Amino acid sequence: MRELGVSSEVFPSESPIDALRHARGVIISGGPSSVYDQSSPTMDPAVLAAGIPTLGICYGQQLITQLLGGEVRKGDKGEFGLAFLDLCVNDSALFAGLTDHQKIWMSHRDMVAVPPTGFRILASTSTCSTAAIEDAARGIFGVQFHPEVVHTTEGARILENFLFSICGCAKDWNPANRIALVEDQIRERAGDRSVFFFVSGGVDSTVAFTLCLEALGSERVCGVYVDTGLMREGETDFVEETFAALGHGVVNIERAEEEFLGPLEGVYEPELKRHIIGEQFVKVQERIMAARGLADGSWILGQGTIYPDTIESGGSSRDKSKAATIKTHHNRVPGIQKLMEQGLIVEPLADFYKDEVREIGREMGLSAALLDRHPFPGPGLAIRCLCSSEEHAVTRFSEGWLVPVHSVGVQGDSRSYAPVLAIDTFPSAAARLQDEATELVNRSVGVNRVMACVAAREPLSQQKVFSSYITHGRLALLRRADGIVREMSFKAGFDKHVWQFPVILIPLGSGESRDSVVLRPIYSVDGMTADSVTMPDDLLRAMATRLLEITEIAGVYYDLTHKPPGTIEWE
Ligand code: XMP
Repeated sequence: MRELGVSSEVFPSESPIDALRHARGVIISGGPSSVYDQSSPTMDPAVLAAGIPTLGICYGQQLITQLLGGEVRKGDKGEFGLAFLDLCVNDSALFAGLTDHQKIWMSHRDMVAVPPTGFRILASTSTCSTAAIEDAARGIFGVQFHPEVVHTTEGARILENFLFSICGCAKDWNPANRIALVEDQIRERAGDRSVFFFVSGGVDSTVAFTLCLEALGSERVCGVYVDTGLMREGETDFVEETFAALGHGVVNIERAEEEFLGPLEGVYEPELKRHIIGEQFVKVQERIMAARGLADGSWILGQGTIYPDTIESGGSSRDKSKAATIKTHHNRVPGIQKLMEQGLIVEPLADFYKDEVREIGREMGLSAALLDRHPFPGPGLAIRCLCSSEEHAVTRFSEGWLVPVHSVGVQGDSRSYAPVLAIDTFPSAAARLQDEATELVNRSVGVNRVMACVAAREPLSQQKVFSSYITHGRLALLRRADGIVREMSFKAGFDKHVWQFPVILIPLGSGESRDSVVLRPIYSVDGMTADSVTMPDDLLRAMATRLLEITEIAGVYYDLTHKPPGTIEWE
């Protein structure tokens, strides 16, 4: 909706009508559940009686049907992917201006068998006789297909019809125009208090921090950059220079390496790492605030949280069971949640997607060098330095080798934590192994990621996974490898072709070389889904050669997994 220029917010499906009275229209989205399952998401039926134009998409259409007394049942067969829509009426406002035969995208098994009383059928496909329904008098519409995906050729037109002619919305959403409003919100939340802000040098926290500065003035905003010991090479210097150049003069550098590395000793489980780091941030914050006399209730904490962070931490639904926790972001740990409940947190960007944040930053005059930086996760290198509590052998597994280093994935909207499948040869980039890798993951029960060996000192059969944790030495090794990859990628101009390029250290090797490096260049728009990107062969070979000059590194691998089924980060 925002891409079409209309202000929109995502609400939990069960939101009571009172939370929605201000809306010009309501869209009930699709989802993987069946309306007949006990635990399926539902909605307040009063929303459908409130006279607010409503559009149900896929599951949304089925839910509306069920709540209004129609009938939903399992179709004789599923309908997944490309389909053709035939309109059976020519006077529906939803399809105004559209031809009566068009390409759409379907993904369903359940379907509306009998529409509720008062509804008429607008369109069908060869498999689904109720591909679109409406009760124009009540302003309620439903489509079984997905107008929101690019594969539905006229999808945007259908949504525009809903927004502009049915709901009467105005085209007034433009993130850059929101700045004044966001600044008002910051002033309102802060009241007469000031804001204490952790900045990371990344886009989100810098933009959020700058918004607070503009809203409250430098007297009332204090920024601290914490060197957690988990940052990339040269990062602290970059941050020092950037904020000095921005002329803010209100950002201080705090060195707190031991406070983070100490509690991470002996920890290998990713969620535990994330919790420890999040909680340490809270402790460091309390310590700094106490030391500076800021803990007297006159300060609140600012965060650069953006919308996807909230969704993936399971925060888009009040009922935690509905939106699965994929990864707990460091700014959604319990300590922070508690502060949120007390109204002690301000998150100016919590409603925005990354591309919108960049637009806001541009409008505020922040430099492209800063705004175009690849995202870097809050927990830093800790979640790229994989650990293992035990020693494990590498074993033969279907079409490759099972490497028992566990990584996080997202499969069927929920989290998986599984070993990685390694292919021991790396044909040329032209082979585009990524698509095969996805199929391989789908076929192979119990793995969520596939990597190919670019170069290694020993064949995989001779290697093993070492018992290994986060240590100064391993962090230094990862920092060095990451620095090499970043520099080569920048020089070759490859960094412009990727959205993010994590470099991961895994405890796989032999003899004295006990770690391997995984390259994970991906392309994404908002981090929610991502494609593994193909790198030019010569750059890849040159990188592997440079990396293998380091004796501790046993091999260099390439992550071929898209998201889903893998996530961008390994933990
Ligand atoms: P995943 O690994 O979930 O990552 O596919 C999606 C995007 O989010 C970044 N990421 C984080 N960012 N705090 C952050 O600020 C976090 O805890 C965190 N974890 C993942 C990740 O780098 C990618 O861009």
